[in-house]
Amino acid sequence: MHKTLKSAVVVFVGSLVAASCATNAPQDTWQPKGPNAKLIDDLQQPVFAVAGIIGLIVAAAVTYTVIKYRDRGQPIPEQTHGKPALEITLTVIPALILAVVAVFTFGAIFKLAKTDDTEMIINVTGQQWWWEYDYPVQNEFGITSPIISSGQLVMPVGTKVLLRETSRDVIHSYWIPALNGKRDAVPGRVQTLRLEADEPGIYAGQCTEFCGLSHANMRMEAVALSKEDFAKWVANQQAPYVVPAKDSLAQQGETVFLNQCVRCHQVNGLMRADGTPAIAAPDENVWSGAAPNLSHLMSRNTFAGAAFDLLSKKCRDEVWGAPSNVVGAKYLAGVTEDCLNQKDLRAWLRNAPEMKPMYANPADLEISNGKYRGMPYLALSEDDINKLVAYLLTLK
Ligand code: CUA
Repeated sequence: MHKTLKSAVVVFVGSLVAASCATNAPQDTWQPKGPNAKLIDDLQQPVFAVAGIIGLIVAAAVTYTVIKYRDRGQPIPEQTHGKPALEITLTVIPALILAVVAVFTFGAIFKLAKTDDTEMIINVTGQQWWWEYDYPVQNEFGITSPIISSGQLVMPVGTKVLLRETSRDVIHSYWIPALNGKRDAVPGRVQTLRLEADEPGIYAGQCTEFCGLSHANMRMEAVALSKEDFAKWVANQQAPYVVPAKDSLAQQGETVFLNQCVRCHQVNGLMRADGTPAIAAPDENVWSGAAPNLSHLMSRNTFAGAAFDLLSKKCRDEVWGAPSNVVGAKYLAGVTEDCLNQKDLRAWLRNAPEMKPMYANPADLEISNGKYRGMPYLALSEDDINKLVAYLLTLK
């Protein structure tokens, strides 16, 4: 066999095999887990089939022609020009196919843009490089005071959730393939995206608009809980602050947190030593004007824009691998001390920009206007890191 042809065959077969290798493909666009994603899937399945058949016919015709009429030194055949009947047919048939596809596509687009049947609203704000989730007061779900979270979007199953997306810096794009298509988060605008999950579970996604150095580290996970489990999650998010036990390592960690972290990170209910509430001022320190609210941090499975797991591999696999009837209970257990991914959390506290690139030159701690982009290097001592980890573990 010709050498080029041989390598072409190897590459083709190799990619086919490699593409079918993934046993765990959480961002597979062919596995819808909710009605919005199903609408898209119902469009792409038949179009893929029709396009696939046409593609095979074309490829076969081209291969046949190339072989049958290849140059064997024969005289050049008679040259002709124009064949109106054939040209019109070859224009009309694809136009008809596209018209049929368009009719169904428009129908789906309008259904996906609907907002008047919304049952729950979650405001989603993108910034370099994480998503903030803000649940406005919705008494029917027990949300009696706003909840602010990040990393994981928690929602009840079988509920028409409407995300209201915007951005604090550049354009990002929200995408949980199992639940819907993409929607850009654009500064100065609010755009909506419907999400609904049929079954409890955790659905992975990632930012799909290039948004700077750590675009690839801007991930998200949607956690769908049964209505009862969601109510428990809401109650926990609204639970008051728990002051660490007196003279504990965690209490010393609270002091470190007040000195170092509270400049940017809010923990609701945290008080300064003088009895005044500790209010974070990320707008004075961070370029996007926001940093993740860390109240109830350990109720999330991830940190740093869902780029890293708060759960150790073993514990994470247990939550993600859980069947839909128990995944909620596993998720609500949160991050306990035995399950904490100490390695990554400590590495993050030690030197965050090394874990998640934030500046083209890692030596630059600040950008021109004197504000940080993302979590800076804080030169914390190992002793402070021990105390902080003990403290963060109390934020259940
Ligand atoms: Cu945010 Cu890409």
